[in-house]
Amino acid sequence: MNARMLMALPFAILVLSSCQQRAVRSTGSAAAPPPAVAYEAHVAAGGRVPPGGTLHNPHQGDKAVAANGALLFTAMNCDGCHGPDATGSVGPNLGVGRWRYGGADAEVFMSIFYGRPKGMPAFGGVLGEEGVWTLVTYIRSLPKADNLATESWEKP
Ligand code: HEC
Repeated sequence: MNARMLMALPFAILVLSSCQQRAVRSTGSAAAPPPAVAYEAHVAAGGRVPPGGTLHNPHQGDKAVAANGALLFTAMNCDGCHGPDATGSVGPNLGVGRWRYGGADAEVFMSIFYGRPKGMPAFGGVLGEEGVWTLVTYIRSLPKADNLATESWEKP
């Protein structure tokens, strides 16, 4: 490293750290979940699972919250894309137990909070953590169809 680069270094650090601050601020005031979760459904190369946060659904199995989630599912127009009772339309069926991005609580949370690339909007900004967990609780409460039209390599 020459002297000019050395002189520029503090400036570069300053710019970088202010970018970082902005990135943190842009996630909003909603209590921030970890940036990534450990995906249960993913295959870890060499059996070594990369570090990831864990999220716990505060309403797991709560039927009253699931019922609220069903109302929110309609109010937020989730059913406009996923169909009534999440049975599928332009968005996938969320009740068959077959997931593109994983069906564990944390994985469903990430799908709704941050969205998914092929047409799933990110709802974390408008619903916050509590709203998204309410929807996760509803989706996880959906009865699993026992007569699936197609088979998955993974048992639902
Ligand atoms: C504009 C249409 C649209 C709306 C509105 C929408 N979704 Fe989606 N959703 C999609 C599409 C399309 C996908 C598939 C995305 C992909 O494959 O990348 C998806 C994927 C998902 C997934 C992941 C499914 C999987 O197989 O892993 C979940 C969970 C989900 N949506 C829940 C919701 C909830 C809850 C709402 C309401 C808050 C909602 N969606 C609103 C279109 C929509």
